[in-house]
Amino acid sequence: MELDLNILKPQERVSLQLRLLYERAGFSKYHMGRFEEYGLYQENRRFLSSEQVITFTDLDGRLLALKPDVTLSIAKNAQVESGGCGRYYYMENVYRPSQESHTFREISQMGLECIGAVDDGATAQAVSLALRSLALTERDFLLEISHMGFVTGLFDAVGAGEAARPKLLTCIRDKNRHELQKAAAAAGLSRQGTDALCRLGELAGPWEQVLAAAEPLALNAAMGDALTELRTLCEALEGTDGTANVKLDLPLVNDMEYYNGLVLQGYLAGLPRAVLRGGRYDPLAEQFRPGARAIGFALYLDELDRLADVPAETDGKVMLNVALPKGRLGDKVYDLLAGVGYGCPENYNDTRKLVVENREAGIRYFLVKPSDVAIYVEHGAADIGIVGRDILAESGADVYELLDTGLGKCRMCVAGPKDFAEDQSRALRVATKFVNIAKAYYAAQGRDIDIIKLGGSIELAPILGLSDVIVDIVETGTTLKENDLKVLTEFMPISARFIANRASYQFKHREIGTLLKKLTEVTDQ
Ligand code: PRP
Repeated sequence: MELDLNILKPQERVSLQLRLLYERAGFSKYHMGRFEEYGLYQENRRFLSSEQVITFTDLDGRLLALKPDVTLSIAKNAQVESGGCGRYYYMENVYRPSQESHTFREISQMGLECIGAVDDGATAQAVSLALRSLALTERDFLLEISHMGFVTGLFDAVGAGEAARPKLLTCIRDKNRHELQKAAAAAGLSRQGTDALCRLGELAGPWEQVLAAAEPLALNAAMGDALTELRTLCEALEGTDGTANVKLDLPLVNDMEYYNGLVLQGYLAGLPRAVLRGGRYDPLAEQFRPGARAIGFALYLDELDRLADVPAETDGKVMLNVALPKGRLGDKVYDLLAGVGYGCPENYNDTRKLVVENREAGIRYFLVKPSDVAIYVEHGAADIGIVGRDILAESGADVYELLDTGLGKCRMCVAGPKDFAEDQSRALRVATKFVNIAKAYYAAQGRDIDIIKLGGSIELAPILGLSDVIVDIVETGTTLKENDLKVLTEFMPISARFIANRASYQFKHREIGTLLKKLTEVTDQ
């Protein structure tokens, strides 16, 4: 019987090819136990993306877990000779909580790890295998490379304190220049320090170009060493298939607890999020063998099966898909965009159509509910969108935040009856549409609350005794005033933000950049 590989799903076909690739490169398959001792995850919580793990008690009373992660098990159990470098690959399912569905998801991963005496040669081999793994999919792809040492070195150089670093890192990762400036000011950084952090955003592109631009900006030995390592790696990769698809992206940063050197992220055209993630994780390797170094990456195989569902543009024209919030804010944004050449022949307010486009201008608008904008963009159904900061913060969507348009200004407030006096002896009853924002706000103050989630007309809650206070947006203040309520605290200024899907930003870089530039000019931000 002849074997017809065409009946295989993309995930199955690619995983067979990857096995062959890794075996030929001298990596051996790592066989994992089905379960792992829960203690391993408890002791190494800081290396996990989530502390939530599925556990059960085995027949002998031991507390076991369904693996949320493969690397920890390999780092702990691999038998590496002293002075040697262990090379392993794996194909395993891991179980992680999904914020969206509020349940655990089974995620199919294939990846490789080098543990022990990882030298420049082993590093270049791992990165070239990452490159060739993406190339195997036969899709347009991109491998982004960065180095945590450059950013942490920069934090040291500008005097960013430990407490301020996570917030600064998030802003850098989200390409969120406006919030980065605010966070840098809040951290007490100088003007020059803030500018140096903001300049990081420009250090992305072909490796020779980025290194030439970054080298004069290295302020200390750590930053210089990071660039030398990147140069050595990029030179070693020359000649490998697919090097044209390598991009250095110095603002690509990841968890500081986990990664301490190179970081990798791979995208495939048509898929909304990175399908490959990895990097240098010496701190984790050293937990189990002192002095060990480690590099590895994982490919998210489930994502590959979605490739078949991606509709292609029929005439090859690059269209930017915009999630436009229905209503006043969307109309304002549309007017701005139409004013700089992105208008459509059809007025969407005259019809019930949810999609309007202008093929010549390369733009297509989806009319969506304001609260859904971030979801469309995060999932790649739209490339870009305009969304209020309130909705963005509430959704926690993993997107780039590229511009504060300054439109739709209002503020997130705690409001209550005019004669409100807080009773500290019990939990505060808070009515809101913004459950996550309210929880985070009160958690930061250590105040115990009971949340009452409502869909609208929040101001009614304290009037009817349903809650003590509300957390809601205030624009003109009229609604509060006319209902005998007042602002008790203002804690988050809000305006509409221009956001982009992370993969679209890579593959439609020129188109998004052009639109962003024009929008920046007219919004005067
Ligand atoms: C928002 C918000 C307030 C009001 C504030 O409600 O929830 O109720 O606007 O605006 P103001 O300060 O200018 O009075 P929205 O109109 O979105 O309706 P909703 O009550 O259904 O949420």
